[in-house]
Amino acid sequence: MTFKKVLFGGDYNPEQWPKEVWTEDMRMFDLASINSATVNVFSWAQLQPSEEEYDFSQLDDIMEMLKKHNYQIVLATSTAALPAWMSRRYPDVNRVDFEGRQHKFGHRHNACPNSPTFRKYSPLLAGKLAERYGDLSEVACWHISNEYGGECYCENCEKAFRVWLKKKYQTLENLNDAWNMTFWSHKIYSWEEIVAPNALGDAIGTEKTAFAGISIDYRRFMSDSMLQNFVDEKNQIRRFDATTPITTNLMGTYKGLDYFKWAKEMDLVSWDSYPSYNTPASYTAMCHDLMRGLKNGQPFMLMEQTPSQQNWQPYNSLKRPGQMKNMSYQAIAHGADTIQYFQLRRSKGACEKFHGAVIDHVGNEHTRVFKEVAELGGELAQLGDSFLTATTPAKVGLIFDWSNYWALEYTSGPTIELKYVEQIHHYYQELYRRNIDVDLVPIDGDYEKYDLLLAPCLYMIEEASAKKIEKYVTAGGTFVTTMMSGIVSQSDNVHLGGYPGPLKELLGIWVEEFDALPPETHYQVVFEDGRQQDCRMLCDIIHPKGAQTLANYGKGEFYQDTPAITRNQFAKGAAYYVGTMLSEAGMTELFDLILADLDIPELILPAGIEVKTRIKDNQVLKFVLNHRNETVAATLPFNGTDLLAGQACGGDVELEPFGVKLIAVK
Ligand code: GLA
Ligand code: ZN
Repeated sequence: MTFKKVLFGGDYNPEQWPKEVWTEDMRMFDLASINSATVNVFSWAQLQPSEEEYDFSQLDDIMEMLKKHNYQIVLATSTAALPAWMSRRYPDVNRVDFEGRQHKFGHRHNACPNSPTFRKYSPLLAGKLAERYGDLSEVACWHISNEYGGECYCENCEKAFRVWLKKKYQTLENLNDAWNMTFWSHKIYSWEEIVAPNALGDAIGTEKTAFAGISIDYRRFMSDSMLQNFVDEKNQIRRFDATTPITTNLMGTYKGLDYFKWAKEMDLVSWDSYPSYNTPASYTAMCHDLMRGLKNGQPFMLMEQTPSQQNWQPYNSLKRPGQMKNMSYQAIAHGADTIQYFQLRRSKGACEKFHGAVIDHVGNEHTRVFKEVAELGGELAQLGDSFLTATTPAKVGLIFDWSNYWALEYTSGPTIELKYVEQIHHYYQELYRRNIDVDLVPIDGDYEKYDLLLAPCLYMIEEASAKKIEKYVTAGGTFVTTMMSGIVSQSDNVHLGGYPGPLKELLGIWVEEFDALPPETHYQVVFEDGRQQDCRMLCDIIHPKGAQTLANYGKGEFYQDTPAITRNQFAKGAAYYVGTMLSEAGMTELFDLILADLDIPELILPAGIEVKTRIKDNQVLKFVLNHRNETVAATLPFNGTDLLAGQACGGDVELEPFGVKLIAVK
């Protein structure tokens, strides 16, 4: 699935402006080589002024104008914010929040996913839009709703939850068992006794819960409910438009939705990237890789990024000169085939008036931001389709799993410091530092193709997944996992018989206990070469059952000199266990050991320089990115033509602040 050319544009809201402004917009967008606009994201109230009445006249005008100017249109369905009449006439569309409060009207992303009214009117609108605009060749992509997320705890949701549970567990006995309901006298005797796990039920604040089994199932159910909303609209679009790709904009590591499951229903993955001033480049890189991983390596759309600053963050720093361009190429380097902004023109009122835009409040093209956008637009036009559909050649897979994310973070103990995404990033970062390409993969992915498979904190795992990993290692794969892995099955009940449950044999160890270190405490591990490295957060007490010890704990604790890191030779492969959270230097030492046995090319460059590879028709493209706001010299082990500068490049190079080179390797 792809586009004819790189879409360069973004969210465009002409409905907020008089028509003279539209003419100005067209003139200015042209100066910036903008070729695409995402329209109709929040217009439900205009499109349907009342229950009985639809009015497409303004959207017709917008579409007409975009067609006339040859735009590739990303057409949204407008269902992410309810019209006020609907909230008033049909209160079932309004969400009930975590505290149990029924909302009236306001904000956006506000529909109850199980509201009969919403489920009637949102697909209806999507269908009407598809009927009207679906055969336009300018419509490049459908954009259903916007940033699905949040949750609802209303009675309709509660009822639908019971139906969902009946389908999953069949009998109350199975459900009582799965949720371990003999604990705290929770056993239930009727499906009606099931309540949604919010503040009025089993939740302990928004982060913890008395019954993880219930809360995890509720998350799965909410994710499925919203996915059903997406599918409802998609089905209506497909009645009138059989081919145009359909997407919705995702949010990276957003916790609430199981994006691997969602991606199966999406033709294309698109996402909104909003790093803050202190987000490490490696974190953004990881999010891009996750988005690319959702559809097994298929290129994705960068649906939104700000050209300059955000407004929702606590400190909305400007992107420095060159930085937006750098971030755009970083997205492309990781698999993006579009560059789109939120937003093309900065709104004059409401809460996003200080959000960056291609056209600022001053209203002309003589701004730093506009000039940088135009420069990038020019470059992308010149690059044409040179990278479109190019693939990423990763030899390393990193498992990311939403059920596990929920389970790990709901669990009470051993430490509140354990955050799933942080642990994933901790491992990702070390590979990133070495410029090793990584695919983020689901627990049921095809990882046979990887030489190395990582699964940090794989706390929740089924027997079948453990068998799949075992098969991978048996055939010669190398597997790395860590503390808090192999502990529970799908509803958070512990695999009895010792940790790490179904991974014990593969890892050749038994973990007897895990010690939580208070935040002010660090400890040490000592590698076989005698080098000592810091560790923190958790220390597993490990008994080798066939595994070899790579590092022991240092002196001081009652578990001093016992194994902290192990390696088990298993058939043709190897399985590593890291029983603690290592410092960065510790990670470097560990990965020196792991990678020594593998044939995975790495490239160590000065800090802040990233190199990523995409391949198209056997042409290797190397993206060289300087994420620092200063000139950096580096020696590249390849050369070719820098497609941006139009000249030979390679070997010793100088990268300007936030500079980028895109080298077609000889
Ligand atoms: C999200 C939304 C946009 C806008 C931007 C602002 O990504 O999809 O509508 O609110 O955030 O950053
Ligand atoms: Zn609801």
